[in-house]
Amino acid sequence: MNVFGVDIGGSGIKGAPVDLERGELAQERHKVLTPHPATPDAVADGVAEVVKHFGWSGPVGITFPGVVTGGITRTAANVDKRWIGMDATRLLSDRLDGAPVNLLNDADAAGIAEMAFGAGRGRTGTVMVLTLGTGIGSAVFSEGRLVPNTELGHLELHGHEAEKRASTKAKDDEGLTWQQWAHRVQKYLAHLEMLFSPELFVLGGGVSRKADKFVPHIEGIRAEIVPAELRNDAGIVGAAMSSTPG
Ligand code: BGC
Repeated sequence: MNVFGVDIGGSGIKGAPVDLERGELAQERHKVLTPHPATPDAVADGVAEVVKHFGWSGPVGITFPGVVTGGITRTAANVDKRWIGMDATRLLSDRLDGAPVNLLNDADAAGIAEMAFGAGRGRTGTVMVLTLGTGIGSAVFSEGRLVPNTELGHLELHGHEAEKRASTKAKDDEGLTWQQWAHRVQKYLAHLEMLFSPELFVLGGGVSRKADKFVPHIEGIRAEIVPAELRNDAGIVGAAMSSTPG
């Protein structure tokens, strides 16, 4: 069965029909640039463009880089503040000619996909999937079950929000070497480990492709650390998975 998934990110809005049995994109994904400012209306236009590119009609799962409860977007750390408190599910569904829409946090979507088809497959205990990008997203699983909207990128670390120090944006903005950045990621993981004692950290986001450049520099963490396997498609796959019952 194919279902459509869309991933709303800081730089791009990407989507494709997803083969749910295989956990893979059924067609090459289509991407449009995220508008700036990323207002609800402008982003909804981008989502509609991606979905209509495939002539898709039917359920659509969509990720959002903030807290989503009951279909309402509650926070907007890296997008326009007009998203806060908005019935974004209705906005997006209206823009998609009434298609059923399921909206969820982007890291939760990536985590769901990694647990089903990627690095977290078959893993029990506590698993933390972290997406390192413009911000830091978190998806926490206990015995395979997600605790949604954990927002652990906003934990305070040495007087700063963790995502301001250890996101890939921080690496780029501050011109950090891989080793310097790995050191920051290590401190963040140590803090998470102190709080949650997970068995496994899955590191996702575009940077998971370059895991060999930074993971070997991370030391002193008890939990196993592995790169995400679905790479940049995890959000799309997880979004699609979330839009079907069960
Ligand atoms: C947001 C999270 C999101 C993460 C990654 C954070 O700033 O608060 O909801 O998952 O960025 O996009």
